[in-house]
Amino acid sequence: MSQTFRKIRRVRGELALPGDKSISHRAAIFAAMAKGTSKLRHLSDGEDVRSTIRCLEALGVEFAYDAEEIVVNGAGIRGFRKANAPLDAGNSGTTARLLSGLLVAQPFSTTIVGDESLSRRPMGRVVDPLEKTGATFKTAEGGRLPMTIAPPERLEPIDYRSPVASAQVKSAALIAGLHVDAETKVIEKKATRNHTETMLGLETRRDGDETIVFSSSAYYPDPKEYYAPADVSTAAFFLGLAAITPEADLLLRDVSCNVSRTAFLDAIQEMGAGVRRENLRAAAGEPYADFVVKSGALRNVEIPDEATANLIDEIPILSVVGAFAENEFVVRGVEELRVKESDRIAAMCENFRRLGYEVEEYPDGFLVAGEPTTPNATLDSFGDHRVAMAFAILLSRLDGDAKIDNFDCVKISNPNFLRQLTTISE
Ligand code: S3P
Repeated sequence: MSQTFRKIRRVRGELALPGDKSISHRAAIFAAMAKGTSKLRHLSDGEDVRSTIRCLEALGVEFAYDAEEIVVNGAGIRGFRKANAPLDAGNSGTTARLLSGLLVAQPFSTTIVGDESLSRRPMGRVVDPLEKTGATFKTAEGGRLPMTIAPPERLEPIDYRSPVASAQVKSAALIAGLHVDAETKVIEKKATRNHTETMLGLETRRDGDETIVFSSSAYYPDPKEYYAPADVSTAAFFLGLAAITPEADLLLRDVSCNVSRTAFLDAIQEMGAGVRRENLRAAAGEPYADFVVKSGALRNVEIPDEATANLIDEIPILSVVGAFAENEFVVRGVEELRVKESDRIAAMCENFRRLGYEVEEYPDGFLVAGEPTTPNATLDSFGDHRVAMAFAILLSRLDGDAKIDNFDCVKISNPNFLRQLTTISE
């Protein structure tokens, strides 16, 4: 599906957005692991979280839906059943990688498959730590899906220093560690999102620049009620739009503001947007608040290396905000973007180029400068929801007649994106 965008002149009002994708995946998995009834409220309505739930259902866990919540009848430590077919993680790296940590500990082998994009993404990064449990892995060439996981006779704890800044890798190892009495230890150089630790109450220590997280069977989840506040990465597109639209005044309610996810808010504030946080609360250790954002005179600022893991999913929309700001937008140290749902560095650069911006592409980042001299271009999402939404925001502020091909991939994280955009714009 191709989508065109008309110029938005005013951004006003308020939005309540669906639940955070990262918290939702984890809530579904931890509820499935706990023996007994858990309740999930306000989960993400995107395809990715559906993929996680479908995989858990294939492993024998019951999810019952009513208007307000999902009731999960969790399997407990020995209650999962071998699936009848390979587990399909769809487009979702978080599903494939977090479930790998659960599957090394089950008394049966499982194969995980994914769609075309996920089948190009690296799984060796979870195989490395998870092999330390004694499990064996068979992957397609280059450490890709399909991946078959065979559990060991006896699961060993993991001691792992992660060479990649990845919350998925960290979480896979920590989830495996929940099945072993002895302590599992994961060390990361660049701190990544900490939802797994927060939601399970795991012990975390800082040692200089490094973060060390521990898990063990003492932290195996019990049944409970989970609430996923609105997704800050989904909110970022609307906050970005408000930042680049004169006289904007936008209120987003109940948005997750876990400090491992808020570097985007700090960045646009430093660039000159007005960001006010009100009504700070928390549910199960996860903080959330209401955000009021106003536009301002924007100028690009340096993105510090230690912030890049924190705003990795927001780089596409941050670069769009940067394209409307004084000075050039530059980001480096984000090579992880090359192995997301698309090669996000290549995808962003290609679309900015098609619009006539000056672009420089680096192995680990990119630069955007100049003006959109060809605003009637045809862009492509490259099948990547965050690329699609970032350029939807950009085109909503241009006079041209540009369109985005393959726009329907927004359903991965936010199926109602277009409706929400219409609600707040004139
Ligand atoms: C996620 C971690 C990040 C992020 C993804 C969700 C998670 O990926 O990009 O959207 O929920 O753990 P990496 O761990 O690969 O950086």
